[in-house]
Amino acid sequence: MLLLTFLLIQSKIQWISTDDDGSSFPKDMNLHVTFPPILERHESMALGHLRPLGWQRRAESPILEDSLKIEPARFYHLFIQGNRSVAFRGMVPALDVLWTDSYLSKRYGHLNITIAKRKQRLVDTLVLLPFKIFLEQYRHDDLYMNTIIPDEMKSETPLPSLINCGTFRNRLLEPVLWISAGDTASLLLAHSTNTLHCVLDGRKDFIIFDVSNQYPNDLDLVRQSNGDLYSRIDVDLVNAYKYKRLHNLPWYWATLREGDCLFIPAYIFHQVRAHGRTIALSIDMSPIDTREDFNGNDCEKNPPIYVPLNKGKFLWRYEHGTRHLSKQTITNDDARHYLLLLLGTNDQLYKDIFLEFFRQVTYELVKKDTTLPTADDIWAQLSNDENNQEYISRSRLKSVSSNVLQLLVDVLQKSVRIHEYDKSEL
Ligand SMILES: *[C@@H]1O[C@H](CO)[C@@H](O)[C@H](O)[C@H]1NC(C)=O
Ligand SMILES: *[C@@H]1O[C@H](CO)[C@@H](O)[C@H](O)[C@H]1NC(C)=O
Repeated sequence: MLLLTFLLIQSKIQWISTDDDGSSFPKDMNLHVTFPPILERHESMALGHLRPLGWQRRAESPILEDSLKIEPARFYHLFIQGNRSVAFRGMVPALDVLWTDSYLSKRYGHLNITIAKRKQRLVDTLVLLPFKIFLEQYRHDDLYMNTIIPDEMKSETPLPSLINCGTFRNRLLEPVLWISAGDTASLLLAHSTNTLHCVLDGRKDFIIFDVSNQYPNDLDLVRQSNGDLYSRIDVDLVNAYKYKRLHNLPWYWATLREGDCLFIPAYIFHQVRAHGRTIALSIDMSPIDTREDFNGNDCEKNPPIYVPLNKGKFLWRYEHGTRHLSKQTITNDDARHYLLLLLGTNDQLYKDIFLEFFRQVTYELVKKDTTLPTADDIWAQLSNDENNQEYISRSRLKSVSSNVLQLLVDVLQKSVRIHEYDKSEL
């Protein structure tokens, strides 16, 4: 087994198993859980002290739901520009009947996938191993799968048509497949991307916080290199004295079952609990500059509710346990588009975000090609401003000349062809 010592495929969600050890008792697969919880008040103690997250304040209401017939433009105006979560029932097919463990093992068992093993709270070790081995172990051991879905599986996986046209289409970043067993809980976190989260089997309960009036700096937040934020709160045993803020933060809830999807905008704090055998697909999308209007020229009038996932043009695909750009030919416009995607809704592209992108793209290439320009070289070319090397503005990215982009294009082109390049060099 190849042990990956750092986050190659950054887990979108870091999970804590509610079991304490990796004991080999089958996990509790019960799907009948009371959620939102019924609060217990004790005179002498802060509400929800040493209880799970969600016990510190009564839920406000369920997350809004909308119709499967929602037009992409309406979705854009209400939920992307409106910066609100929304649930859709029955948006994708339930895959529990088709995707049994034995089917997955027979059909896809040979594929190498990245799985996460839980060692200590907050720290996961990522391991690359055949899917088959994971399927033999996940009902007993403290591990779960959380990986960009392999290309081979895409034809059987759904992509809601809602996000596969117009302004959304070329902002699809990556589809992440999640498989777990038993009760697991995520950290309290906020992604740097918009996410459409769909449950294909099992059940997931979501807590979504409304922090619009008071950014929760006092929740012990940690920022990851991809911009995601998570809180160090122990979500199973909350210290309600230390995190008093939780008594004042309104929260909303959603329970997703097979076929349901939930849209969560970037930087919305949420926490998730999975129950039973859970298979979910999380589609990450680059946030949109919402000052721009929706362009839906290519959106069909009555599209099927979903299409196979291989119809989506995602920025990233997955090979040998690492991210690769999906496109095989990189033009100047592509390179500019990638930089604008990194920008999200910001007007400045910060250097660390670019460095992380560059590291991921060139992860395999740098080991083979020692003459490669460094991220710093390329950054210096792109920014071309001695006074301010910390960020590049949106307007500069939009107008930067093809000449200036060329160095980046060359590196991206080399990296996407790395496996052809391998053969020709050897
Ligand atoms: C999976 O990884 C192992 C070890 O790196 C390798 O030998 C094997 O060929 C890989 N399998 C596939 C299907 O890529
Ligand atoms: C959406 O709301 C979150 C939480 O209040 C905030 O941090 C984020 O900046 C908002 N995003 C947009 C695009 O307004």
